[in-house]
Amino acid sequence: MRHVARTCLSMLVTASLSASLTLQAAAQAPGRPDLTQAEWDRVDQLLNQMTVEEKAGQMTQLTLGVLCEQTADGTNKIKLDPAKAREAILEKHIGSVLNAGDVTMTPDEWVSIVTTLQGIATDESRLGVPLIYGIDSVHGANYVTGATIFPHNLNLGASWNPELARASGAIAARDSRAVGLNWNFAPVCDVARIQSWSRVFETFSEDPYLASVMSAAAVEGMQGDDLSDPTALAATAKHFLGYSEPRTGRDRTPAIVSTADLHDTFLPPFKAAFDAGVRTIMINSGEVNGTPVHADQRILTDLLRGELGFEGVAVTDWADVNKLVDFHYVAEDQKEAAFLAVNAGIDMAMTPLDTAFTDHVIELVEEGRLTEDRLDESVRRILALKMELGLFESVMPADAARDAIGSPEAEALSLESARQGITLLRNFGGVLPFADETRILVTGPTADDLVSLHGSWTYAWQGTNADLYPDTPTIFDAMTARFGAANVTHFEGATYDETTDLDAAVEAAEDADVVLLCLGELPSTEMPGNLSDLTISAPQIELATALAETGKPVVLVMVTNRPRVLAPIEAGIPAILWAGHPGPHGSTALAEILAGDVSPSGRLPFTYPRHTNALLTYDHKHTERFAPDNTPTGGFDPLFPFGAGLSYTSFQYDGLTVDVPAVGDTGPEGDVTVSFSLTNTGDRAGVDVLQVYVADNVASVTPRVERLKAFRRVGVAAGESVPVTFSLPPETFTMVDRDGTRFFEPGAFTIRVGDDRETIELRP
Ligand code: BGC
Repeated sequence: MRHVARTCLSMLVTASLSASLTLQAAAQAPGRPDLTQAEWDRVDQLLNQMTVEEKAGQMTQLTLGVLCEQTADGTNKIKLDPAKAREAILEKHIGSVLNAGDVTMTPDEWVSIVTTLQGIATDESRLGVPLIYGIDSVHGANYVTGATIFPHNLNLGASWNPELARASGAIAARDSRAVGLNWNFAPVCDVARIQSWSRVFETFSEDPYLASVMSAAAVEGMQGDDLSDPTALAATAKHFLGYSEPRTGRDRTPAIVSTADLHDTFLPPFKAAFDAGVRTIMINSGEVNGTPVHADQRILTDLLRGELGFEGVAVTDWADVNKLVDFHYVAEDQKEAAFLAVNAGIDMAMTPLDTAFTDHVIELVEEGRLTEDRLDESVRRILALKMELGLFESVMPADAARDAIGSPEAEALSLESARQGITLLRNFGGVLPFADETRILVTGPTADDLVSLHGSWTYAWQGTNADLYPDTPTIFDAMTARFGAANVTHFEGATYDETTDLDAAVEAAEDADVVLLCLGELPSTEMPGNLSDLTISAPQIELATALAETGKPVVLVMVTNRPRVLAPIEAGIPAILWAGHPGPHGSTALAEILAGDVSPSGRLPFTYPRHTNALLTYDHKHTERFAPDNTPTGGFDPLFPFGAGLSYTSFQYDGLTVDVPAVGDTGPEGDVTVSFSLTNTGDRAGVDVLQVYVADNVASVTPRVERLKAFRRVGVAAGESVPVTFSLPPETFTMVDRDGTRFFEPGAFTIRVGDDRETIELRP
């Protein structure tokens, strides 16, 4: 469809029809900056004045650490070296700087560093082109001391509430931009297809639709209506494309993805981000179907620029041009790697430690292997983005912008996000909520620990430097605050790696009414988070087993990057909550839920596996669910299914009705409507997350058993019923063929809400 629209547009332009029509249509191209003609002219004038050296420099991004006297050493101090900065900016003409050197800085420190860098770029360079500063503010401005930290994306996914993604994205943007950081490497638009992958927590979901809705909302929140606004910044849809299904489950290892699946599973969140106006993408560090994506012209040019019409900036991931040489082994040397990557379609290389890329690009142009026109395409995109961010007018927001950092409203939003994402998965015998005077043993490695509440990308890359954390409550602290010091005791029992005061914990369990067992894993991301065994660690199993043997009810809270397998312990545990990385207020939110002050409303945005060798997603193929005895469902037996989650009340759906409009050759000629009534059958108010799934019963490309197509959080008072209607647009009933083309294939479709199903025939 887009392709047709572009063809029409170029016909209109050549026919010199009204300029306003041209501009209006041009603004629709995904990623294209919304500039006036005068601004585009200014971009082109600048471009025309640039030397090849300056253009190659604009395409280069260095990490802050290499411009500093001292890189990260755990002291949380970093000092800009103006001589190094001048060399990079004035002699190598770099266009961008990223990151924080693995430290966190106060707003004033940030402002001082960014102001100095921008001053060199704008006042001392020949053309005065400002820098664009990229940062991973992936759950709030997580490298700015005092800024509000939010739960990670997977927790937001568990809220099924796009408004939280939008609002927290807006705060991350505001707090980053206030200190001069104008480009956010977020949101992650990858779908978590393998539960053992180290970056599951950074995604919104395993499901393309849920991830699409949340990604679009996050982009809208970060970018606002106007990128030059001092509270907005440029967002990045990352990591394009096919990053999140490494065959081994280990980060940056090969993915093998069919064309159909690439379009049907991996692309939708990126397309949703494009539709929401995202201005940049970051490229997948790994390989897909045998080609590293950084060298894959079919993905970076044919698909991204051609089919999808994306006109924004494509930045590499960390050192990924270099990695074409000694990681992927597709280029003999760095110069060849630069050639492959630029030729494939990158605009900017996060080199990030040196400017060898810049030199190689210059040489490649001199040798005639890369054309200057090719450089112009990229540099024009980069300059236009800087123009749209208003950087040619002002590089730093007013000092007053910093006053809002860490505002009480933002902290309240973080707490509310934590409440809505924590997911109650099991509550046998109504163990929860705890009565006020319950005597509780709080134990386990994540019980009195801040880093697991926050996860990686908090104050430093892996997030594990507890010294950098401000004093926010651990789970033990929050439980003490809520239930009283007299009722709450704490023994660690075990770390992730060894049992510690296990005997004391067991003894304390004997004296308690209940045990709150807080397990998990050390936060990690990317390759440091690679795993060989998804099962929870042995010392934690030992602790859980010993506690269960006391006969005291054990309530398990999982504070983790990803769903760690609980097979050895779960049978003895009556209540289980998934808390993910709920952020600084996660402990408070958890205590509120355990006390019943808040009725849980989270729903799993992923399939919680029962066994390590059964890492299926809910939307698997039929063949994947056959059991050894050939029963057609027994082979899929997760511990908790996708979408699962309990409240302290119960909900019932009645009267599922599906209305089908006339059906033409290209599908339904209007929305299919799904209606039913939702009743809160319990005795307290609650929020349910309604989920509509659709199965294409028989299709020419093997269908998935079902897929989520619509959802909504709905609050209902005790005993009340509300009517609910969902409108499923015609695209809901399309499929993707083996060449990646989406089309409608007539047939029967089954719609499921809860345990109710309706089958409809969609035939012309
Ligand atoms: C990660 C990206 C991140 C980049 C910059 C990479 O290692 O894969 O997600 O944006 O570093 O910090």
